[in-house]
Amino acid sequence: GGCFVTAIRSVVLGCGSYLPQKVLTNAELAARIETSDDWIVQRTGIRQRHIAADDEFTSHLGINAARAALADAGLDAQAVDLIVLATSTPDNTFPATAVAIQNGLGIHHGAAFDLQAVCSGFIFALATADNFLRSGAYKRALVIGAETFSRILDWEDRTTCVLFGDGAGAVVLEAQEQPGKNTDRGILTTHLRSDGRHKSKLYVDGGPGSTRTVGHLKMEGREVFKHAVGMITDVSVDAFKATGTTADDLDWFIPHQANKRIIDASAHKLHIAPQKVVLTVDLHGNTSAASIPLALCVAVKDGRVKKGDLVMLEAMGGGFTWGSALVRW
Ligand code: UT7
Repeated sequence: GGCFVTAIRSVVLGCGSYLPQKVLTNAELAARIETSDDWIVQRTGIRQRHIAADDEFTSHLGINAARAALADAGLDAQAVDLIVLATSTPDNTFPATAVAIQNGLGIHHGAAFDLQAVCSGFIFALATADNFLRSGAYKRALVIGAETFSRILDWEDRTTCVLFGDGAGAVVLEAQEQPGKNTDRGILTTHLRSDGRHKSKLYVDGGPGSTRTVGHLKMEGREVFKHAVGMITDVSVDAFKATGTTADDLDWFIPHQANKRIIDASAHKLHIAPQKVVLTVDLHGNTSAASIPLALCVAVKDGRVKKGDLVMLEAMGGGFTWGSALVRW
């Protein structure tokens, strides 16, 4: 008797990350420009960041993270039929860096493309892959955030160059049929937002279609900060509402890692206990689209995030763009 309702869910099979070997400390920066370890730590929580070698491109970082994620999932690369790469620092204007990663992994079937939502890129990529998997179009996806922001920084501008770093993180998703309850594994809900009225508050002052140059990152830090907490909490509340969950149900809050003060204020406003917050901005700096999967991997590897845990991912960044993803790990 009775009909048995099933739904397709995107279940996380594994995650992996990669950080370039070179570490740049606040003290090293203070020796070069007018700043101090104290200022950077107090205003941002950042203590160090990783910097890619000259011959290390975003695709190389992404390939390393993808390989680690596939190994963690116990999956052969050939099982993947979709690659969505979130990056604002592609190897070339085109083709998509995702194609270089696909080729590096020896995958020649399915589809691979880049997606650009700056610091919210990983959430946008996760939501995109999730929709493709739930539609039945693809079976297994690599969702990657990979960045070499060191290449677009003005290293003389102390208001921006101390904030960012390089790195990559990835997750493997698989479409699985399930009853589709909140207690079932997988991505429960995603919420994406954009508002171009804010496009000049955080941008790169170059590009192929305008200046024919790459350009450098420019940011009105205080303006971004002013909007961040409200936007982050809005989309997190959207995720709670869509699933009938609350902050108490949450096991882990894994935010985009831009600034410890923004993260603390957002967690506080959402009534999320401090011990549920995963913080890696001290070690990685702001790695844009890579920061969430990098933080996620740290918390999975050290045993904090376990199977069945409820995990909130959220980000806000250039555009402005912002978004959340609620995941049953
Ligand atoms: O990931 C995408 C989203 N991005 C973000 O979330 C970044 C959001 N914004 C921020 O995180 C913060 O606004 C910053 C960390 C960028 C700046 O912190 P703040 O508390 O907003 O500082 P401020 O910009 O108001 O600057 C305070 C002072 C200024 O001096 P005056 O004008 O008060 O004399 C700056 O010139 O700090 C000065 N300053 C520095 N001093 C030492 C700015 N950068 C530095 C520096 N070292 N690196």
